[in-house]
Amino acid sequence: MSQLTIAIAKGRLQQETLDLFSRAGVQVEEELLSSRRLAIEDKSGQFRFIFVKPADVLVYVEHGIADCGVVGLDVLLEAETDLLQPATLEIGRCRLVVAGPTERPLINCGMMRVATKYPRVAANHFGSRGVPVEIIELSGSVELAPVLGLADCIVDLVETGKTLEENGLRIIEEIVTSTARLVVNRVSYQLKAQRISELLAALNGATSEGHQA
Ligand code: PRP
Repeated sequence: MSQLTIAIAKGRLQQETLDLFSRAGVQVEEELLSSRRLAIEDKSGQFRFIFVKPADVLVYVEHGIADCGVVGLDVLLEAETDLLQPATLEIGRCRLVVAGPTERPLINCGMMRVATKYPRVAANHFGSRGVPVEIIELSGSVELAPVLGLADCIVDLVETGKTLEENGLRIIEEIVTSTARLVVNRVSYQLKAQRISELLAALNGATSEGHQA
């Protein structure tokens, strides 16, 4: 039986994804999980996990190096990919929001400066409202931008809300709730149809099981 390669987003989603696959019956030796290896097989040898940066999950799946991938809706929206997305997984729940300083109202006079790791999502959001913005693209620690005067507000992910709170920011508007999605390469979806549909069924079962727990 051919192996299925699954690209997993490193970082906030990684552990939840491995837990979900484990509940779905795809388990990995502890020793391998605690290593720094970026490609590992499950106990049955029928699956290979590769660990990559969230946006790179889409690259590996688009190129067919990985058959499937698990990535947040936030990453999918930013990349505007047309990969198959046959399953929504109830993990990695967070919100993409507009946030600004708690102490200062967001006064919209002239061009608003928006700092973000999500330039496309931010441009679409403000564009659809006809609000003129200058997008300032950052790679991380976005919450610093309004605090230090680089931007008037940010578009960023909020999970617990702690980072916003501890940096004197508040949510102004929610753009979308993000959870993880299973993405699938179109050729794999045809050639490995049975394996992928079995995986989908197992993940759906594990998702509802996790939901009830
Ligand atoms: C994300 C996000 C926020 C923070 C939100 O950043 O961009 O900064 O987590 O989490 P919270 O609501 O639970 O506080 P990440 O940790 O991925 O690091 P980064 O800022 O370097 O991108």
